[in-house]
Amino acid sequence: MVDGGALEGQVALVTGAGSGLGAAIAHHLAEQGAHVVVNDVRADAAAAVAKDLVGEVAVFDVSDSAAFDAAVDTTVAQHGRLDVLVNNAGIVMDRPEVIKRLIAAQVAAMAGEAVAPLRVLSTLTDERFDRMLKVHVYGTFYGMRAALRHMEDARSGVIVNLCSVYAYGGSVASPEYAAAKHAIAGLTKSVGAEVAPLGIRVNAVAPGFIDTPFLDPLDDAKAFLLARIPVGRFGRAEEIAKLVRHIICDATYSFGEIFPASGGWLA
Ligand SMILES: NC(=O)c1ccc[n+]([C@@H]2O[C@H](COP(=O)([O-])OP(=O)(O)OC[C@H]3O[C@@H](n4cnc5c(N)ncnc54)[C@H](O)[C@@H]3O)[C@@H](O)[C@H]2O)c1
Repeated sequence: MVDGGALEGQVALVTGAGSGLGAAIAHHLAEQGAHVVVNDVRADAAAAVAKDLVGEVAVFDVSDSAAFDAAVDTTVAQHGRLDVLVNNAGIVMDRPEVIKRLIAAQVAAMAGEAVAPLRVLSTLTDERFDRMLKVHVYGTFYGMRAALRHMEDARSGVIVNLCSVYAYGGSVASPEYAAAKHAIAGLTKSVGAEVAPLGIRVNAVAPGFIDTPFLDPLDDAKAFLLARIPVGRFGRAEEIAKLVRHIICDATYSFGEIFPASGGWLA
């Protein structure tokens, strides 16, 4: 136990907790005494994380509204409460051909040569745009709605959504990701104000680039990214998990706020 049980007796649901930030957050909440419901769309990944903490696995796709409702209702039926929801599940901007074009364009620009069209948005498919919004925006919406139905009755609860530095700035490489994270910021601020009078805290964290499997598709771009991070390194999942724990356990005067953790990234 790290600080000693601030969440003792409480129940937390963390989505996308089979990897990276979600797994680190699940562990930190468990260390605080929470019973953690470990969600992921990948059953094996969720099980691997859940075996090391007090909690259980809930395998579902956050973009499935009925499945999210059922998981929250089952949790409340079994444990009598849901105190914390972390809407963390996400998918990466994984178009390696776009990254290559962007790097080539930067090299050409630095050499004073003409830059070829990047064709990022003009080659973005309906399927990719839909999926990005379904997982991030709809997933966050479904989660908040399902949790608030119980938290409003209880007049207590904490929700943390995963934004990104791309919730403030644009992303040339992945406009659909930036659009999704901007939407989550809008949801967080709006709902945060709505339920503040009930004492329910809805906030978000906005990480920069954190060293998780999420960054794997960006391998070719890592040197370019590092050059833009003032602190000179990627963040660690642990650092974001500590911030999320702080928001949940300590940030009692924060409602609809977005907490950055970006290594100084200038969006
Ligand atoms: N790593 C970063 O640099 C970074 C920076 C800013 C924000 N974020 C955000 O943090 C969150 C977690 O990212 P990560 O770095 O831990 O990524 P990750 O790829 O390591 O983990 C994401 C997890 O979400 C799960 N998942 C994906 N789609 C799902 C779905 N539809 N339903 C349920 N689970 C699903 C995956 O199976 C995976 O286990 C994402 O929302 C991401 O956008 C990450």
